[in-house]
Amino acid sequence: MKKVAVITGASSGMGREFASIIDRSMKNIDEIWLIARRRDRLEELQGELNTACIIIDEDVNTNEFENKYKKILSQENPGVKMLINCAGYGLVGTAGTHGVEVETGVVETNCVALTKVTLLTLPYMAKNGRIINLASSAAFFPQPGFAIYAASKSYVLSFSRALNSELRNKNIYVTAVCPGPVNTEFFNIAENGVERAWYKDLFMSRAKDVVRQALKDSVQKKEVSVYGTSMKLLMFASKVVPHSVALGVMKVLNGKERK
Ligand SMILES: NC(=O)c1ccc[n+]([C@@H]2O[C@H](COP(=O)([O-])OP(=O)(O)OC[C@H]3O[C@@H](n4cnc5c(N)ncnc54)[C@H](OP(=O)(O)O)[C@@H]3O)[C@@H](O)[C@H]2O)c1
Repeated sequence: MKKVAVITGASSGMGREFASIIDRSMKNIDEIWLIARRRDRLEELQGELNTACIIIDEDVNTNEFENKYKKILSQENPGVKMLINCAGYGLVGTAGTHGVEVETGVVETNCVALTKVTLLTLPYMAKNGRIINLASSAAFFPQPGFAIYAASKSYVLSFSRALNSELRNKNIYVTAVCPGPVNTEFFNIAENGVERAWYKDLFMSRAKDVVRQALKDSVQKKEVSVYGTSMKLLMFASKVVPHSVALGVMKVLNGKERK
């Protein structure tokens, strides 16, 4: 049986980095399935990888994607060693700023599509397989000025932790990755011309460092992967600081972004 790694959001940022590192370091993977909308980017990535690839250039929110993915799964009948859910986006601004469709699209992509891809893949997961879900440190607190995105990532964190508990007896392990700001195209979409909150540059990480840490934590069967001391402190703070206080702090920190 072919052993595969499935990566959504593979056309840029952390998804692309996962594909590159898996290609270089995981010799037990026969094929990498690259999922995103931009076919040219996926083809360029495919050209750089030594591992065989299947490209699925679809919007994960569509029926076309669901039908194509189901079909490929049933035709190939793979053993999925790794499922990595990176497809996602956020939009800075108070709720209502960008319009209903785009804002609910954040929930559709970050939560509904991630859940759908996971459920469709589960029957094909190999023993000792791994699921890595991109949550965010935004999952730790509600965030005025970034409310829908932060809530969507709380869903990813909660879902991943519970799923990890459910799947342990099947020897499948789920890791939620919770980075702070990472230097990727994410901010082009999220900020869209809005001035960046000062603290984000201060804590900006490199995609390859976050991804290396995530893969290491996944191998070690950790349910949460947090890169860097500051984000680990933030996670700790989320357990001890009352939400009313956190809300006040986030409102001030995200102040310039609340338009
Ligand atoms: N960068 C950060 O600061 C940060 C921090 C914490 C968590 N995260 C999370 O990490 C994940 C990866 O983000 P990134 O930083 O690597 O950003 P990125 O470079 O913008 O990558 C996002 C990826 O998702 C894909 N995507 C978005 N919507 C899609 C859709 N509807 N259907 C298919 N693919 C879709 C994009 O590909 P196409 O446009 O080609 O479809 C792209 O490959 C996201 O879930 C993000 O929320 C990011």
